Amino acid sequence: MRKPAHNPRDLSLYDLDDILGTIDREVRQRFGEGKVADYIPSLADVPIDRFGMALATPDGRIHEVGDARERFSIQSVSKVYTLTLAMQAIGDDLWKRVDREPSGDPFNSLIQLEYEKGIPRNPFMNAGALISADVILSNYEDPEKTLLEFMRARAGNPEVGTDEVVAKSERESGFRNVAVANFIRSFKNLDNDVQDVLDFYYLQCSLCMDCVDLARSVLYLADGGHCASSDTQVTSPEVATRINSLMMTAGTYDAAGDFAFYVGLPAKSGVGGGIVAVVPHVMGLCVWSPGLDEKGNSALGRYALHRFTRMTGLSVF
Ligand code: DON
Repeated sequence: MRKPAHNPRDLSLYDLDDILGTIDREVRQRFGEGKVADYIPSLADVPIDRFGMALATPDGRIHEVGDARERFSIQSVSKVYTLTLAMQAIGDDLWKRVDREPSGDPFNSLIQLEYEKGIPRNPFMNAGALISADVILSNYEDPEKTLLEFMRARAGNPEVGTDEVVAKSERESGFRNVAVANFIRSFKNLDNDVQDVLDFYYLQCSLCMDCVDLARSVLYLADGGHCASSDTQVTSPEVATRINSLMMTAGTYDAAGDFAFYVGLPAKSGVGGGIVAVVPHVMGLCVWSPGLDEKGNSALGRYALHRFTRMTGLSVF
């Protein structure tokens, strides 16, 4: 009879600190790969030779390495949390306004919006994130406070805040976002003032957090919707599962296929160089390294996640 395979979800099988140490050494030898985002002037100043990684488990343990306590601009990673808030507000009605398909196009693409009549392909493209922002503006009394409190509670860190300089820089350079928002509005798929929607979107992108904050804050998606930091049920297990599936198919834009192939975890990236990932029922992770590949995902962050799932067998496949 065939011996049962080992269960990769049994964390007692690994020395996680040793694994993180190995990844850190490997990554530091590759510093310089990728290119820091420079289309938002305030992001262009971030040094490229940074790497941090953190893992958070539902029992409250954290494993971290490198620059895991250095804050960075979370950018599109925020789309996971605004999607959660939008789903909390209107449930499945959200899917009348945004689709759930991978796009195969860059995050700021306008192209599908024309022939798909203002319905964004998924909630993680900029177009889809603007729908989540619009839903939040329509359904929460104080949207900014709601988002900040949500992030602080998920991270278990009252210090989480936004960076005004980044938000201003985005507002001054967000020509494509202005185009996307107006385009969607022309199909009557935005209810609020276009500038208000954009301002909320810039604010969410300017949230500043570190790898430990983000690993903790994504834990509710690994734990059936339960947030360990605040001991609250944030979403139903079903909603958590659905958000994970969207992260798998669309969280890294037109590199989602490659991510599934090499990493095999639901993940969401941002042009600040952060990537959050989820091992369902096991842990939340965050990696950060500012050099981006040509698809806008952290080059060394992707490498680190790839090495992690290879060394542990913790891919979902
Ligand atoms: O919309 C933008 O240009 C940025 N503020 C957010 C983009 C982002 O992080 C996309 N991710 N890879």
